[in-house]
Amino acid sequence: MELKGATAIVTGGASGLGEACVRRFVASGANVVIADLNEERGQAVATELGAAVRFVKTDVSNEDDPEKCLQTALEAFGGVHILVNCAGIATAQRTVGREGPMPLNDFTKVIKVNLIGSFNMIRVIGAKMMEQEPNANGERGVIINTASVAAYDGQIGQVPYSASKGGIVGMTLPLAREFSKFGIRVCTIAPGIMDTPMMQGLPEAARISLGQQVPFPPRLGRPEEYAHLANFIIDNELINGEVIRLDGAIRMAPK
Ligand SMILES: NC(=O)c1ccc[n+]([C@@H]2O[C@H](COP(=O)([O-])OP(=O)(O)OC[C@H]3O[C@@H](n4cnc5c(N)ncnc54)[C@H](O)[C@@H]3O)[C@@H](O)[C@H]2O)c1
Repeated sequence: MELKGATAIVTGGASGLGEACVRRFVASGANVVIADLNEERGQAVATELGAAVRFVKTDVSNEDDPEKCLQTALEAFGGVHILVNCAGIATAQRTVGREGPMPLNDFTKVIKVNLIGSFNMIRVIGAKMMEQEPNANGERGVIINTASVAAYDGQIGQVPYSASKGGIVGMTLPLAREFSKFGIRVCTIAPGIMDTPMMQGLPEAARISLGQQVPFPPRLGRPEEYAHLANFIIDNELINGEVIRLDGAIRMAPK
């Protein structure tokens, strides 16, 4: 599918990997709805990029919020062809720590935002994509989710996060199968360690040390490299139902 003239909804588009997608998509001639909790940052990006971008304050885990994003896309741009799910949260906490068992709500919250939030957007935006006219190649939409290498090699303290990302990996193929008859592709990117605000809280020395654990290139991933892969998935009609690691061959150690 061509980005030029298409409309994309990008969750988590106010920061990091999602923001890089917003910038790349707009530069390629797409319209974008930024769906993010962070109103200040999301609105600032939308204002900077101008008429091709709208911001909608969204909690992806709220049942009603995807509809708000959809209505904005329809009213402002007349359709929706691409959904990129980047909204997510990360926590570090052992299942049984010094204080005892992890409060159940700490586990549930991560699953709710990362896994249920992605599904929540897909069910509503996917339904609209199905109703639209296909392009000349029979394509109606492309959906890209964000897992993590933690879905495969989760570290100590990452049980809720790894479970949420493993869920995203698990739903990729059945979603692609369900949506295939409508010409909608579903893929997932599993990034390694990326240099986003999630990581920028760490001291410079820690970020360099993390980067050096990557076999090649020995550095943190750049958000633009995520956006480049998302763009490639959108372009290449044959990529479907697949999870692609974007990680410089890192395999995370237990801790
Ligand atoms: N940075 C990394 O190293 C890395 C590695 C693997 C996977 N990921 C995943 O990539 C995605 C993007 O992460 P990032 O590094 O760009 O992080 P980030 O913190 O820079 O951006 C995440 C964005 O999601 C938004 N968000 C959080 N909860 C939300 C909610 N309930 N509804 C709507 N928006 C919400 C935040 O406001 C923020 O703008 C996440 O799913 C993350 O788990 C990141």
